[in-house]
Amino acid sequence: MTSESQTAARSGAAPAAPRGLSSHPSPPQHVAIIMDGNGRWAAHRGLPRVEGHRRGLEAVRRAVRSAIDLGIRYLTIYSFSSENWRRPPAEVADLMGLLKLFVRRDLAELHGNNVRIRIIGERDGLSPDIAGVLREAEEKTEANTGLTLVVAFNYGGRQEILRAVRQLAEAVADGRMRPDQLDAQAVTGALDTSGIPDPDLVIRTSGEQRLSNFLTWQTAYSEYVIVPEFWPDFDHRAFAAAIDEYHRRDRRFGGLSDKAG
Ligand code: IPE
Ligand code: IPE
Ligand code: MG
Repeated sequence: MTSESQTAARSGAAPAAPRGLSSHPSPPQHVAIIMDGNGRWAAHRGLPRVEGHRRGLEAVRRAVRSAIDLGIRYLTIYSFSSENWRRPPAEVADLMGLLKLFVRRDLAELHGNNVRIRIIGERDGLSPDIAGVLREAEEKTEANTGLTLVVAFNYGGRQEILRAVRQLAEAVADGRMRPDQLDAQAVTGALDTSGIPDPDLVIRTSGEQRLSNFLTWQTAYSEYVIVPEFWPDFDHRAFAAAIDEYHRRDRRFGGLSDKAG
């Protein structure tokens, strides 16, 4: 991170001239990343999958620095899906170990850079040590005002919607809410992402063209940029290029283009 961006990160302000964005004064407010391709990165090198996940963690560190440098306010990273429990137990254990390592090694630096951490996903049923590190990361950085790093862990978009709807149904059943008060705003507010703006841009690495149960409700009008790099190879240049691609898009939200004359 540059010293200028470190100062900006601490003060909570966006850097004056984000690298790679000189002609685009306003970066997307919220970028969400489906960090895919760790296993293939390793397989291409004849290495075990865990090595890809280790290198993937380094790419996470880089992406956080890039997000701060690029002036992004919210960065969401998909780190473990509700469906990833289907993987072999040894790989699941490796992924859990890397999450703990990330918090143990990086929390102090993230906190020092004024990063606020939010965790989204199902907490019930997680082992106490994992639940503990997630809570520690959130609590320690709660008052920070710089980049919000949203970590989607044990996360599934459909499961999140179901939890929200169940909570709202209980409020209706208890008489705290009338059925006609159940609107899109109520659902949005009952999701794990309550208070976080919808992603402007979703980046998926490794070329796969699917959402894999990521932010199902929140991405209704997000822009998608699919990049060919495997996640461990995703660097600042690739991040800045994805943002440049985003700036070439014409977001219409069902209306007519602002760009057309
Ligand atoms: C992303 O890489 C990490 C997680 C899903 C946890 P993968 O492990 O999915 O790598 P590929 O897609 O098998 O290459
Ligand atoms: C999505 O990647 C989940 C994460 C990046 C954590 P997957 O590798 O699990 O997705 P699929 O199985 O290819 O759809
Ligand atoms: Mg994958």
